[in-house]
Amino acid sequence: MSAPSPSPGSPLSRRDFLSTGAKLGAFVAAAPYIARGAEVGAARGADTVNVALIGCGVEGSILTNASRPIPGIRFVAVCDIWPYNLNSSQRRLKAFKQDAQAFEDYKEMLSTVKDIDAVIVATPDFVHAEHTNAALKAGKHVYCEKLMAHTIEAARSMVVTARETKKLLQIGHQRRSNPRYQHARDKIVRDARLLGRITNISGQWHRAVTEDFGTPRGQEMSAEKLAKYGYANMHEYRNWRWFKKYAGGPISDLGAHQIDIYNWMLGVNPQMCIASGGVDYYKTHEWYDNAIAIYEYPTKEGIVRATYDVLTTTSAGGGYHEYFMGDEGSMKISENPKFTKLYREARAPEWEQHVTSKIISRPDSGEGVLVGLKPWEKPRQRMAMPEKVPVSGAGGAAGPAKVDVRETAQLSAWDIPVTLDKAIHQPHLENFFDAMRKGASLNCPPEDGFATAVTVLKVNEAIAARRMLNFAPSDFVV
Ligand SMILES: NC(=O)c1ccc[n+]([C@@H]2O[C@H](COP(=O)([O-])OP(=O)(O)OC[C@H]3O[C@@H](n4cnc5c(N)ncnc54)[C@H](O)[C@@H]3O)[C@@H](O)[C@H]2O)c1
Repeated sequence: MSAPSPSPGSPLSRRDFLSTGAKLGAFVAAAPYIARGAEVGAARGADTVNVALIGCGVEGSILTNASRPIPGIRFVAVCDIWPYNLNSSQRRLKAFKQDAQAFEDYKEMLSTVKDIDAVIVATPDFVHAEHTNAALKAGKHVYCEKLMAHTIEAARSMVVTARETKKLLQIGHQRRSNPRYQHARDKIVRDARLLGRITNISGQWHRAVTEDFGTPRGQEMSAEKLAKYGYANMHEYRNWRWFKKYAGGPISDLGAHQIDIYNWMLGVNPQMCIASGGVDYYKTHEWYDNAIAIYEYPTKEGIVRATYDVLTTTSAGGGYHEYFMGDEGSMKISENPKFTKLYREARAPEWEQHVTSKIISRPDSGEGVLVGLKPWEKPRQRMAMPEKVPVSGAGGAAGPAKVDVRETAQLSAWDIPVTLDKAIHQPHLENFFDAMRKGASLNCPPEDGFATAVTVLKVNEAIAARRMLNFAPSDFVV
């Protein structure tokens, strides 16, 4: 894949993009091993990869569907403790003409099905480490969903196991493989520097009130079975993301996607976190239903202050996006392309030279297309400052109000011309399978997933502590 991970040694860090680099020790730690899966195809004399899925719920189904168009991917086993989801996953694969054996117990699956090359883990966060570490130790490459784990220690154990076993571990922060995000970071922000100096970031995920999940009649699991797998009851099993034992709440469930992009876009980890939040609305949840965080990022060009808020009681304010703001331009980007826009500040050099009318589906390295922006509306003329601004107020006649055009004259708006012509998870899975088959670099290796988990979980800690918490550079290193 064309987009590098922002670890030392990558093209991004070689250019020392925005980062304070090794001096502050704030980089995401480098992978100290090179895990290659090229033996997979060679051993079988073909490019077929045999895959097993652990966790056949909503995300397991999405990943199964997104893998389907990738040549050579064959699901040979599926595992889930809930027969309802297990059977439906097996049926779906049968419709794709893939005969997957079904298991309740992942240990039995790993020991019985000998020719598994890769395991996809899409279980609740509190069992990611157990499932991932077991699969790695069984000699499989692993794609594990975000958040990497619900505790820092569990996430750390996954980094260590990946290193010890020398197997690939991709963490499911799929925006990193999205060609629109790659274009935004590599072409717009880094190469063309259209934002100038980034000073601020804001990001949000605002979601309307949702009902708790119920269970279809007759599909309840027994209390004994739930206890065997660590669940208190069927309600907690179905709504695990709201309970502290199983997950990190909305900041981990939703915020992790976007806070990961803060770290990735800047190529640096934060140095400070303040946060507020609480269970102010829902009566049946343990986790905060809203969280508002502020981070400080120490970049080479100065501090970047970043805010992030996740609200689960209102869809107001434009859904979900990350908004990178600089002194020459700003970029609002989202996995949903309709929220994406770029704005030029009036003081910035014209952007005309960067314009292309070519809509592409992957970052373009073609000559003359540095950024490839497509005007969304025709850019306005730069507005000149009037020499004398009419003044109203004390002693003056009632003239026009004083308007500082420097605050209003920006904002010609543009689009990013890179479209994603496939399911949003597919490029990240492709990157994982390319790493296995061709030795490509992972777009989210375990060290990067770990740094994101450390960044995200600090928000819950800061809310509980009700004070500012600092990160030490060593917090991000395993
Ligand atoms: N990348 C994304 O865009 C994205 C989106 C949604 C969810 N996720 C992540 O995917 C994971 C799963 O989320 P979901 O929404 O699919 O949840 P879900 O509840 O729909 O599915 C989880 C499945 O795991 C199974 N399971 C639970 N414990 C198990 C065990 N011990 N062994 C085997 N199976 C077990 C459950 O029976 C269920 O079928 C989470 O980590 C979540 O954060 C990622």
